[in-house]
Amino acid sequence: MADLAAEVMERITTVVTRLYPSATDGLDTAVRPSERADAQVNVALGLARKVGKSPRQVAEEISAELDLRGICSKVSVAGPGFLNLTFDNGHLGTMLRDIAKDPHLGVHRATTVETVVIDYSAPNVAKEMHVGHLRSTVIGDALVRMCEAVGHRVIRENHIGDWGTPFGMLIEHLVDLGEVDAARELSVGDLDGFYKQARAKFEAAPEFQERARQRVVMLQGGDADTLRLWKLLVAESSRYFATVYEKLGVKLTDTDLRGESVYNDLLPTVVDRLRASNLLVTDDGAEVVFPAGFTNRENSPLPLIIRKQDGGYNYATTDLACVIDRVERLHATLMLYVVGTPQSQHLSMIETVAKDAGWLREPVRMAHVAFGSVLGSDRKMLKSRTGESVKLVELLDEAVQRADASILEKNPELPAAERRNVARMIGIGAVKYADLSGDRIKDYVFDWERMLSFDGNTAPYLQYAHARICSIFRRSGTTREEARSATPLVSHQSERALALWILQYDSVVWDALERYSPHRLCTYLYELATRYSAFYEQCPVLKAESDTIRDGRLALCDLTARVLADGLQLLGIDSPEQM
Ligand code: ARG
Repeated sequence: MADLAAEVMERITTVVTRLYPSATDGLDTAVRPSERADAQVNVALGLARKVGKSPRQVAEEISAELDLRGICSKVSVAGPGFLNLTFDNGHLGTMLRDIAKDPHLGVHRATTVETVVIDYSAPNVAKEMHVGHLRSTVIGDALVRMCEAVGHRVIRENHIGDWGTPFGMLIEHLVDLGEVDAARELSVGDLDGFYKQARAKFEAAPEFQERARQRVVMLQGGDADTLRLWKLLVAESSRYFATVYEKLGVKLTDTDLRGESVYNDLLPTVVDRLRASNLLVTDDGAEVVFPAGFTNRENSPLPLIIRKQDGGYNYATTDLACVIDRVERLHATLMLYVVGTPQSQHLSMIETVAKDAGWLREPVRMAHVAFGSVLGSDRKMLKSRTGESVKLVELLDEAVQRADASILEKNPELPAAERRNVARMIGIGAVKYADLSGDRIKDYVFDWERMLSFDGNTAPYLQYAHARICSIFRRSGTTREEARSATPLVSHQSERALALWILQYDSVVWDALERYSPHRLCTYLYELATRYSAFYEQCPVLKAESDTIRDGRLALCDLTARVLADGLQLLGIDSPEQM
């Protein structure tokens, strides 16, 4: 739509400049959606006051001079003085053909290429990944894909929690269990069991507590055997995380692991540099920074603790080191933190301190891509039937099983191997789409029935629309590539509705990206599938009146399927060809 709008705006500006040369400042020539036409321009409304005429009269004068031949088939003055536009069918067809020729389907490249560091997933070693990590992983992955699609340089960072005092007790528990048994427990993903046992011992046995404390000191002191045991914990947990990523089909790999421990060497530097900037204050024996604008419940200034009384560093110190690393070593221009809403204050304190210290300066920025919680049907935090936190792998396996059962019911002829493959795409797609399709800030209720339904704003509905188009092609005797040589037909009102929607793809992708809001793309794809359904009901494709019409409609089908698949792929969702 961008080109179409740009052309209209340019021609309107030319006419206005000719008619009202003294009133051309701040013209609003934007091409907006309209209830009664394809689009409308409200330029006359603002101009009227400046030229002392009624908006309708101004609109009439502009419309009389305006030459939109070749772009619009009709321009009319409506309401208080809108210019209502009806685009020319032939022109719409030509624009669709241009989009069809473009491998990016009309989505324009970034004019300024950014280096975007995306911090996402970030589960904690020897602790179960919970649904919050699922959200971070799925949303982060969609942002990675969208940024890459427009040509940004993307650096994925999985900031796993792999350092800190809990590792004293975790290592001692590992020693108690014996390395082999401990490794087995961790690699099958019984992380919660492991953590809870360690915690229970820590709370019950002073002797264990003492050992754990000494272990932390040894770990921080770089004791070789302690480090070896620590690495074992990290490796086994990471192996487990990797199985989850693999099932999810996200882009994270081992090379993206950059846990908290990586920043250890930088922590003293953080302290030194904060001190040198006169930001560091000693408070109750701890070294802290008081960023302006943060207060606690009693309204006293809230400290960001950099170094505790016992000399240990904090989560915040690591995050500050991260900023330095990302800006100074990676040359990030944009840093995205895909982290749950509860960490808003933490991240905004980090941002403020990093700015005050001069580490974060325009044009480099950081953004907290926050998200709400996943709820159960009781609208409380999602729990398994036994009241434990839900294990992600089990959840994903269940999604695939449920999808498998529903395909078996809907399409019993599909060969079993094919069905399993499709079930994975649908099951995983459903989970991801349920997570992505609502405004990320909001909580959402995890609901198997809804997310796997073939109706409504769900992944299966969109995947089905795509598969249906593929099936038309299987029956047509025409390949998708052959279909692309025809100009998409834009004549019937449902073809027009579909065409106008496809032209929006570019602006929707950009809008979703710039707001870090994948749900905007979901909403678009849902409407696209809906408009396609209307078209399919009203316009016969394979039984069209003539070969020309058939070819034009096949071209429209092909383009729709490509936009659907491309949009889904930006969300990390596959589009099976049959289901
Ligand atoms: N590991 C943390 C958690 O599970 C999330 C880390 C987010 N990233 C960061 N740079 N603080 O809550």
